[in-house]
Amino acid sequence: MKPAILVARAVFPEVLEKLSQHFDVTSNQEDILWTPAELIQQLQGKTGAFTTGSERIDAAVLASCPELKICANMAVGFNNFDLTAMTAAGVLATNTPDVLTETTADFGFALLLATARRMAESEHFLRAGLWNRWRYDMFAGAEVHGSTLGILGMGRIGQGIAKRGAHGFGMKVIYHNRSRLDAAREAACGASWVSKPELLKTCDHLMLVLPYSPQAHHTIGAAELAQMKPTATLVNIARGGIVDDAALAAALRQGVIAAAGLDVFEGEPKVHPDLLTVPNVVLTPHIASATTPTRLAMANLAADNLIGYLVHGKPLTALNPQVLS
Ligand code: DGY
Repeated sequence: MKPAILVARAVFPEVLEKLSQHFDVTSNQEDILWTPAELIQQLQGKTGAFTTGSERIDAAVLASCPELKICANMAVGFNNFDLTAMTAAGVLATNTPDVLTETTADFGFALLLATARRMAESEHFLRAGLWNRWRYDMFAGAEVHGSTLGILGMGRIGQGIAKRGAHGFGMKVIYHNRSRLDAAREAACGASWVSKPELLKTCDHLMLVLPYSPQAHHTIGAAELAQMKPTATLVNIARGGIVDDAALAAALRQGVIAAAGLDVFEGEPKVHPDLLTVPNVVLTPHIASATTPTRLAMANLAADNLIGYLVHGKPLTALNPQVLS
């Protein structure tokens, strides 16, 4: 008998087909957003789960699903997993690193350009039929090439953004991260380490790429925004909750910083209502990794983790490999 697994959200049909060769698959191609109780119900009798950031796997879920052995997240971020509880319950957690690095770095840069160069604001102006002449200062934004790019969080995606900034746009790149990169990697990225206050004070554009953890909650709030230049832009492609969205909306309205580009939000898919009425912000619905080839690669890696572990005993990208021993 094939092991039973749950694919908790809609996914590429070819990935479902691959999984069906190894598993008895319960899928959710209608893409219903289950409540925690419904998720527990769907997980009954399943040894594996294909999850996304919207399925919270915590101690309560684990206690109610004793047959579960692995949750394979189709995301590099895994703040929907209580990793400690999963490890204690002997449930393997996997994610999808590497396959989305360059695509997400591309998007970070796209959002930076759109924000600094006021693309959304000017497009709304044009669509509203308000454009009736050229004007010397119309939608004049901030320079990107040759400016100073600050990066908070310097993992794979941060490094991809640094390379684009330093080598593509001639930017001075500074970063802050708990652990400093070695000299060779800093040289490859064209980036130098600075303290967090120095980063906030000096950069023209601040890019957030750090993983979410309770310690990272509201890493950027009113106090941090006040340390930035009034001409600065802020881009968040990391996770909602890293920025205090209410404080950011107020800062944008009051001109504490010039503009922001946000792909992630506290409590998404809800967006703080104040952000929806501020003109100098570009808002996108968590799409930084959303190209078809990259999303397919992510889905395949999550599927290969399920097959690797449940069929061959060898997952590809385990987050809590202690479970394997
Ligand atoms: C990730 O991989 O963590 C993304 O945020 C999901 O698209």
